Amino acid sequence: PNQPPVVFHWFPFIGSTVSYGMEPYEFFNKCQKQYGDVFTFVLLGRRMTVTLGPKGNEFVFNGKHADLCAEEAYTHLTTPVFGEGVVYDCPNHMLMEQKKFMKFGLTTETFKQYVPLIKDEILSFFANSPYFKGDAGRVPLSTAVPQLVLFTASRSLQGKQVRQALTTTHAALFHDLDMGFTPVNFMFPWLPLPHNAKRDKAQRAMAKLYMDIIAKRKAGEEKEQEIDMIWNLMNRNYKDGRPLSDRDIAHCMIALLMAGQHTSMATTTWTLLHLAAKPEIQQALYDEQVRVFGKDLAPLSYEKLSELSLVNNTIKEILRIHPPLHSLIRKVKSPLHVPNTDYVIPSSHFVMAAPGVSAMDEQYFKNAKDFDPFRWIGHEKDEDNAEKFDFGFGLVSKGTASPYLPFGAGRHRCIGEQFANVQLGTIISTFIREFEFSLPPGQKEVPPVDYNSMVALATAPAMVHWKRRQH
Ligand code: HEM
Repeated sequence: PNQPPVVFHWFPFIGSTVSYGMEPYEFFNKCQKQYGDVFTFVLLGRRMTVTLGPKGNEFVFNGKHADLCAEEAYTHLTTPVFGEGVVYDCPNHMLMEQKKFMKFGLTTETFKQYVPLIKDEILSFFANSPYFKGDAGRVPLSTAVPQLVLFTASRSLQGKQVRQALTTTHAALFHDLDMGFTPVNFMFPWLPLPHNAKRDKAQRAMAKLYMDIIAKRKAGEEKEQEIDMIWNLMNRNYKDGRPLSDRDIAHCMIALLMAGQHTSMATTTWTLLHLAAKPEIQQALYDEQVRVFGKDLAPLSYEKLSELSLVNNTIKEILRIHPPLHSLIRKVKSPLHVPNTDYVIPSSHFVMAAPGVSAMDEQYFKNAKDFDPFRWIGHEKDEDNAEKFDFGFGLVSKGTASPYLPFGAGRHRCIGEQFANVQLGTIISTFIREFEFSLPPGQKEVPPVDYNSMVALATAPAMVHWKRRQH
């Protein structure tokens, strides 16, 4: 049997590391032209087989756990940050259970409670941030949005105490932990870099924050006020009857914090930038607010968010053009035949899905480069849909051969899609109600992507000019 073609390179260990690292999509597109949908490249000595297109997405996302393993691909990066015993530092069946536990805390009931909390956080951010003083100004999104996303996610999902700690006692610790979540740690997590020593110290301190909250709650020192994710996880048991340990809960909470922070902040930033470039879409979004909430703009609520189809289509379109995660990776566990080819991938390789490539392919999306939320009208239900998935055991997923999978598919599919929609929908709606905004004078295009980060971020400072909307 044949192996997939290997991308030409000059130096054995370095391989294609530089061109992939700097411009992953340019690299994928060039290789696709030259070698087809399936090819292997060398990334710091490792052999990565990329499988592109809807079938390629399905091949990676729907692989059996015995054949394709995520934990071996990700644990070096995630375990020092999240902590031990959860996610990719435990057997896969335990991750499946942990995801199910987390899903219990991501229900309609909790979302109803979250929307007003998130909205209040945004309004207090506007009131207190130096970037939003007066009637007009400018804001570097690369500084402001990470804070806004952190405050809104922590106030809702993480609970009041974590929210408070993140602006006071634990603000610097969160920063140190976050600095450990960088692409260089994919390959060299053990490097004795100063940021890794800080990361390890911060991980322990953040875990202690959660464990202290749990201990207080167990001691009955805190009455159950708001149902947050910590309460939820404290009430779950593994299939064998064991509850999650306090440490497991702490580490799951850190994993949730990190998973949601980077993806949501990239998406929020790109949304505001593209809207800044298209005032006519801002106007349409404002008109939608008036249509759904009335002239006096009644308060946002979870029920009404789902009626904001332009808001939801805007999020969908941003995730098509800027999916935060460009490469999803698995370790190959036994030689694998690629369907409809005569290629067999040896077990020494990794496989990589890059659904962002098919999402920008003219074959599936006309004028793929254009930001056009209206293209989704009438196609709202087309894409892979979280409701179809059962995060229980023996999970089998259907419909993964899609060109559009910003949340992945199969057993590792994202559990945060609905929460992200609630958070982003509330942020977009609140921005649109309060401001009109534009790119800096003379700037026509949104800034280029910075791939030097965990997610596909906008190059700093990602400046946007704003003025208060006249109602
Ligand atoms: C998994 C994207 C927000 C928690 C994933 C995966 C993708 C993704 C592509 C699949 C990874 C893989 O197959 O290797 C996104 C995007 C988001 C987002 C685009 C926002 C716009 C969130 C949020 C949370 C979250 C807010 C938490 C509340 C998770 C978890 C997994 C996951 C727990 C499972 C990992 C696994 O099973 O291996 N996400 N995510 N995500 N995401 Fe998200």
